[in-house]
Amino acid sequence: MGFREDFLWGGATAANQCEGAYNVDGRGLANVDLAPIGDDRVGVIKGKLKMFDFDDQHFYPAKEAIDMFHYYKEDIALFAEMGFRVYRLSIAWSRIFPNGDETVPNEAGLRFYEDLFKECHKYNIEPLVTITHFDCPMHLVKEYGAWRNRTLITFYERLCRVIFNRFKGLVKYWITFNEINMIMEAPFMAAGLYFEENENEEAVKYIASHHELVASALATKIAHEVDPENKVGCMLAAGAPYPRTSNPEDVWKAKQVENENYFFIDVQVRGEYPAYVLKALERKNITLPFEEGDKELLKEHTVDFIGFSYYSSSVVSADPELTDTIGGNLFPTLPNPYLKASEWGWQIDSLGLRITMNAIYDRYQKPLFIVENGLGAVDTPDENGYVDDDYRIKYLSEHISAMRHAVEYDGVDLLGYTVWGPIDIVSASTGEMNKRYGFIYVDRDNEGRGTLKRTKKKSFEWYKKVISSNGRDLDF
Ligand code: BG6
Repeated sequence: MGFREDFLWGGATAANQCEGAYNVDGRGLANVDLAPIGDDRVGVIKGKLKMFDFDDQHFYPAKEAIDMFHYYKEDIALFAEMGFRVYRLSIAWSRIFPNGDETVPNEAGLRFYEDLFKECHKYNIEPLVTITHFDCPMHLVKEYGAWRNRTLITFYERLCRVIFNRFKGLVKYWITFNEINMIMEAPFMAAGLYFEENENEEAVKYIASHHELVASALATKIAHEVDPENKVGCMLAAGAPYPRTSNPEDVWKAKQVENENYFFIDVQVRGEYPAYVLKALERKNITLPFEEGDKELLKEHTVDFIGFSYYSSSVVSADPELTDTIGGNLFPTLPNPYLKASEWGWQIDSLGLRITMNAIYDRYQKPLFIVENGLGAVDTPDENGYVDDDYRIKYLSEHISAMRHAVEYDGVDLLGYTVWGPIDIVSASTGEMNKRYGFIYVDRDNEGRGTLKRTKKKSFEWYKKVISSNGRDLDF
């Protein structure tokens, strides 16, 4: 059996990590442009260090990124050569509405995406569009306090109406918010939230989350009204949390961490807040800003599929003394002695993908879409610019194999798989170019030097074979 015949194989990127051209054709400034590379990045993306404009002391990699704004035809042709059936990308909100609160969209921005989608269709590649991949126009951050302000729902709704109508017939797969749970770990990068002193950060994050959840339901409603063919998904930064020991305290802690992550998806899939969140917020004295009609909207407009990213599992403990966490997609985790880790400390766990898929599918019984997975590694090109990346092929083949087991043996309904960063792009957590995920090498370094030349890596031919065999041939 294996994967369905129409399985959507492809790759995924985010506008700010690849497009560059941050001020071209009227594009406005966004929160994601203002995350510099270096020591200050963490403070900025967590909303602790105020960076509302560029300064001369920092380098901002998103400004030029890999200039896909100008290279997209060449890049999509390479994706097509690998046999992509889907390309997941995000729209830069500030290309369409430079300030975010205008009533008339920027035609140049719309045309850019329209051309790009047409280019995809030229090769029978289905675009899968993330409406917001962490980005928020800076004007909305400065004037409205970003998602802590309910008015953002109106601006987001306007964006959705414009793009659903304009791209009707060109796009049918949509994701409302990338990794919606990331707001808890990186609130400025994920939702434009910067915290003033003495602000109750947790309360602000839950309030902003409520606004995003209402906006997501509204987007789902409008998408279905504009075109019943539209399929709308949510998107979770996933990865099963394992208890560090069989001590029931650790098991309970792992369950709590799991719930904290699933809460967003519970709302987007089941249409209501789960009891465990309502109880927790009650104890913390946090009031959710429900307004008339919110409850019904959430209930009636749930998503069609569940998109998620998977890079790693995590390990949690109830012991407060165990604070020695290591890297893992911005979510803290304890080391797992049974696993090896990437050069950035992300623990490699292919069986964890099968475990995660089963956990999500058991919980919701909705089709799943793995919209991010991959290995960020240092690549060393030879004198011709060629990269022999067996380590990446190994990672991906093990994960695809685990994913096949979940489909074939466990019966999980999976729509598709998009590898993160099929072409090297800027890292979201660190801002580095040297943390590469691609099948295609891009000549650019952490300081912004390089020719931007694209070169196929060894994994390019390998992924092509994986796709043409519909995931049956993973050998290398
Ligand atoms: C996900 C994000 O969290 O992980 C992407 O949706 C990000 O934007 C990806 O790039 C990989 O993380 P990083 O930090 O290695 O780029």
